[in-house]
Amino acid sequence: MTVPELDLDVHLTAEDLAAALRADARRGLTATPKWLPPKYFYDARGSALFEEITRLREYYPTRAEREILAERAGAIARRTGAKVLVELGSGSSEKTRLLLDALREHGTLGSFVPLDVSGAALRDALAALRTDYPDLHLHGIVADFVNHLEVLPESGTRLVAFLGGTIGNLVPAERAAFLAGVRARLSPGEWLLIGADLVKNPAVLVPAYDDAAGVTAEFNRNVLHVLNRELHADFNPSLFAHVALWDPANEWIEMRLRATRPMTVHVADLGLDVSFAGGEELRTEVSAKFRPGRLANELAAAGFAVRDRWTDTLGRFSLTLAAAV
Ligand code: SAH
Ligand code: AVI
Repeated sequence: MTVPELDLDVHLTAEDLAAALRADARRGLTATPKWLPPKYFYDARGSALFEEITRLREYYPTRAEREILAERAGAIARRTGAKVLVELGSGSSEKTRLLLDALREHGTLGSFVPLDVSGAALRDALAALRTDYPDLHLHGIVADFVNHLEVLPESGTRLVAFLGGTIGNLVPAERAAFLAGVRARLSPGEWLLIGADLVKNPAVLVPAYDDAAGVTAEFNRNVLHVLNRELHADFNPSLFAHVALWDPANEWIEMRLRATRPMTVHVADLGLDVSFAGGEELRTEVSAKFRPGRLANELAAAGFAVRDRWTDTLGRFSLTLAAAV
């Protein structure tokens, strides 16, 4: 039996991503302090490690957001009457099925458009969705939600979902530009649904990013494997320690990789030697946590009005439904 092709629009090819990685790695590895953007975690292995993270006892955001969606997806469907569900940074789209089910039951949904920088994650998600939602038009887009929002579908009553707390992986200036970019694509009355993790006790936050089994550490070090493969670098990932710390001033978790001894890494494709002092840290991700009001203010500044906001029963995570105004 031949399996029909997935409807996948590759806006960002492996070559495009490699070119972006070259530019970002050159900028980040020659900066003080050193840093790398988090989108490079998500090759096939990184996406699989992220899925493993979502099942860890310490990592509560996925379970908390799923609880809210299970409770509120019906209300979201009735309120939005969405015909097109777009999901940014869709990954496995596992929780999104709650929205798909509710919108289908409501009778409005015609298509689902997941968008992710990870072609591997998107292909797996689409293959599974195609089996379980045979009547739904599925159209995947491999693209960067920071740089390529122009690829979003043009028509339909659109609901753009940005789940998982991924908004927190953008620093404030990136967030403002991102929200304005989404707003520019929507017409008044169309919808944005954002999952955001909330400020809480660091004794809960830090273990979520530094689990006992070391899965997050491996996810963090995965970016070095990506640099080795894509840029012919010679990082020894085992010489970098995983660091997760709570920054109370910025109210974000910061993930870093700490060089456990002095070393020089050669990045062949950049013709670059990168020296690390013993103990020097490379920032690989921020994961901002929100207080009620902050996200609403940022949404208002971008031209959205909050219509509803829910949290899980333990008050750990929020889901905000906003309309373009
Ligand atoms: N939304 C899912 C997955 C979250 S993990 C959930 O809630 O579980 C973050 C996802 O965003 C990954 O699949 C990653 O590949 C994707 N991603 C990260 N940066 C991105 C970018 N700049 N553009 C598009 N996708 C991105
Ligand atoms: C995708 N994103 C919301 C995750 C987070 O919690 O910031 C990525 C992650 N990093 C470490 N663990 C999970």
